[in-house]
Amino acid sequence: MRYKMLGETGLNVSEISLGTWGIGGAGWGNTNYNSCEEAVETMLDQGVNLIDTAPAYNDGQAERFLGKVLHKKRDQLYYVTKTGTQYKNGVYFQDNSAKAIRTQCEESLRFLNTDFIDVYLVHWPDKKTPMEETFEELRKLKEEGKIGHIGVSNFSISQIEEASKYAKIEVLQDQFSMVYGNKKDTILKASEMGIGIMTYGSMGAGILSGRMNKKEEFQHGDMRKNFYHFYEEPLYSKIQTLLLEIQKVAEKHGNVPISQVALNWNIQKEYVNSAIVGVRTASHALENCKSTEWKLSDEEIVLLDDFIKQVVG
Ligand SMILES: NC(=O)c1ccc[n+]([C@@H]2O[C@H](COP(=O)([O-])OP(=O)(O)OC[C@H]3O[C@@H](n4cnc5c(N)ncnc54)[C@H](OP(=O)(O)O)[C@@H]3O)[C@@H](O)[C@H]2O)c1
Repeated sequence: MRYKMLGETGLNVSEISLGTWGIGGAGWGNTNYNSCEEAVETMLDQGVNLIDTAPAYNDGQAERFLGKVLHKKRDQLYYVTKTGTQYKNGVYFQDNSAKAIRTQCEESLRFLNTDFIDVYLVHWPDKKTPMEETFEELRKLKEEGKIGHIGVSNFSISQIEEASKYAKIEVLQDQFSMVYGNKKDTILKASEMGIGIMTYGSMGAGILSGRMNKKEEFQHGDMRKNFYHFYEEPLYSKIQTLLLEIQKVAEKHGNVPISQVALNWNIQKEYVNSAIVGVRTASHALENCKSTEWKLSDEEIVLLDDFIKQVVG
């Protein structure tokens, strides 16, 4: 495993982190919890120390699972969880009010079986609640020792600047991968501001593994169709062309799985501190972590960046 400092938090985090939306089990097809437990154990054996979760991952289900399987190793890990977004009875909604944040924080502590959350992120902005209310409450939770570092997810730079008036923003989590570069400018600017960067959707919801090379027929409500758009035309066919180029690079490195090219492309960007990847099997966990055992050359990164620009835009 390779490690980087998460911005200026002082946390030395694994470049690959564990994503748990799929583990939550809502909107990701079938979830087998024995397999998830093996996946988590493999990630830890491979040196992963950063765990990403949220109460919105099936109404606390992902947090409860982690609280059960990780509590003996809690001290060796950094927990990142989120607040504001809720998922109840099959519906997502946003409430960044002080009351909701405090209730969710207490619940996350209980579910995760811990007395401290290392990094606490506001999951999405909420137009209904003044930033002052949200971030002053977070500052209080930090003063009370319940959370270590405050961060945001899916915020613009102007929203980060506004939030920074009320609390120190130390981490940004946003979508970034070979097939999704729309937030690159925000990520770059935030990194220049000293904010630690965690990327999500780092495997393009699985498409960058190259395994989903036929259009998957996801069930109604599957997040790989509803939240991500890589399986829809014309993007799907464009990505297939990109995968052929990624495969050529993979062959030059001893025919490594192309997922490893996708992850190295991500974590070798100096502004990315950790790429979160959703895993539910030990074999995916091992394959993803093994990315950190080799590196793309600078020339290969330039070549891949050119293909991405030409093919995906
Ligand atoms: N802050 C936010 O708003 C936000 C939004 C989205 C995600 N996140 C976080 O970021 C994490 C990562 O994003 P994500 O899970 O949405 O998408 P992702 O990591 O890009 O993709 C996950 C998908 O990739 C598949 N996969 C992973 N490794 C693989 C491999 N080696 N070979 C083949 N398939 C592989 C998984 O397969 P299986 O289906 O078999 O498990 C899953 O379907 C989430 O779990 C969550 O913790 C945060």
